[in-house]
Amino acid sequence: MIPVASLTMHDERSDLASSLLTEDRFSLSRNAFGADFKWGVSTAAFQVEGAWNVEGKGPSIWDEFTRRNGTIRSGHLADTSCDFYHRYAEDIDIIKFLSIDHFRFSISWSRILPAGTGKINAAGVDFYNRVIDRCLRLGIEPWITLYHWDLPLELKKKGGWANRDILGWFTEYTSLCVKLFGDRVKRWIIMNEPLAFTGAGYFLGIHAPGHKGLGNFLPAVHHATICQLSSGRMVKDVLPGAEVGTSFSCSMITPVNDQPRNVRAAARMDALLNRMSVEPLLGMGYPVDQLPSLRKIEKYFHPSDEKLYGFRFDFIGLQNYTREVVMHVPWVPYVHASIVKAGRRNVPVTSMDWEIYPPSIFEMLKRFSAYPGVNKIYVTENGASFPDKVENGHVHDQERMRYFSLYLSQVLRAKNEGVNVQGYFAWTLLDNFEWAEGYHQRFGLVYVDFETRQRIIKDSAFWYKAFLEK
Ligand code: BGC
Repeated sequence: MIPVASLTMHDERSDLASSLLTEDRFSLSRNAFGADFKWGVSTAAFQVEGAWNVEGKGPSIWDEFTRRNGTIRSGHLADTSCDFYHRYAEDIDIIKFLSIDHFRFSISWSRILPAGTGKINAAGVDFYNRVIDRCLRLGIEPWITLYHWDLPLELKKKGGWANRDILGWFTEYTSLCVKLFGDRVKRWIIMNEPLAFTGAGYFLGIHAPGHKGLGNFLPAVHHATICQLSSGRMVKDVLPGAEVGTSFSCSMITPVNDQPRNVRAAARMDALLNRMSVEPLLGMGYPVDQLPSLRKIEKYFHPSDEKLYGFRFDFIGLQNYTREVVMHVPWVPYVHASIVKAGRRNVPVTSMDWEIYPPSIFEMLKRFSAYPGVNKIYVTENGASFPDKVENGHVHDQERMRYFSLYLSQVLRAKNEGVNVQGYFAWTLLDNFEWAEGYHQRFGLVYVDFETRQRIIKDSAFWYKAFLEK
């Protein structure tokens, strides 16, 4: 619980944050982004909700994966996590307190359809109704992400994303969500980072469901593509007034030096990490020019896919954290390239060992906006993990403030150069379950004590608040 006392501390903390805003290196004004620019914060169901088996929720692939030995650092589980399921009201009040007007959260598919299809869990539906209604009551706009990686376990047993039947399952789930929440929710994000969950979960085996190899990865990728297109169209058909998008992670890619083989390696990595998620959705196909082994994906095409490619999303959700430096490594299968870890490059890094490189978000905004068919962009995630410490009830996370302000300056630079970027969501509201890293990484604006679940508003959150109120 956030003690009332810490809420009443806000003036003092805001003063500190305001003074930081006027310091040169932090100087940034909300007004410069325009009055219509949307300011938000994002979360994901599995990372914050906990309540993994209460009130009729079915298990997801992550509930199962986290129980397998050696999958998650220190064997952490997300069974309780931030307990957002029970503390959502307090957490939404914090969003309000921080003057954030937009809240992006995801629906846990197996909370409302415990087996993935068929029987509906009324308690789960009720929970999301309460979340949405509380947001609306407080003047916060709710944004729904339909899929942030937590597939119902029952569907994994039937092949999950590698089974083309997912198209039917995902359609049923989408249509249910639209029916249940579409009267109040006007902005929809179909998927979160399809390439991350297919790459980590179906090729590398380091995320749920832990599958490996091209034979799992390629069908999963293609099925994610067609599910995004068909669900996007469905939401739009049922809710013509809604805005519909889907979110990708992307990173600027730089060759380690200008040797031609490293430059070519960077182009291949770029195809894999950046082009592969957006281009198929724009009807441009998969980037086989750079990655010929991707041709095998054609095996999973179906003549009926063709009609899906005509759909255009209202917006693309762009998510950026870092840049990647790449070198040619002949023995790495398929891409023949490898990422040179930031820790080995003597550059500033976050606790994830991700390079702090603000121009990356500028470059990616420029590139994505140049695709014909990308009409509008919202930055749906950007943020950083640092080793936060509580000192006398406060968290003085200067590095995060600095990270946000530097990245935001680059968003503004892109906007001023004509990119149609119309919103920014910080990742993330609460310290939470960071997938394979468990609770070792803290990305939140709000600190969570995972023993007591106490929330402490970090200085970076006060900084964001002061920026939004300026
Ligand atoms: C994901 C989040 C994750 C964050 C930091 C994004 O790729 O959407 O779920 O917590 O990155 O790793």
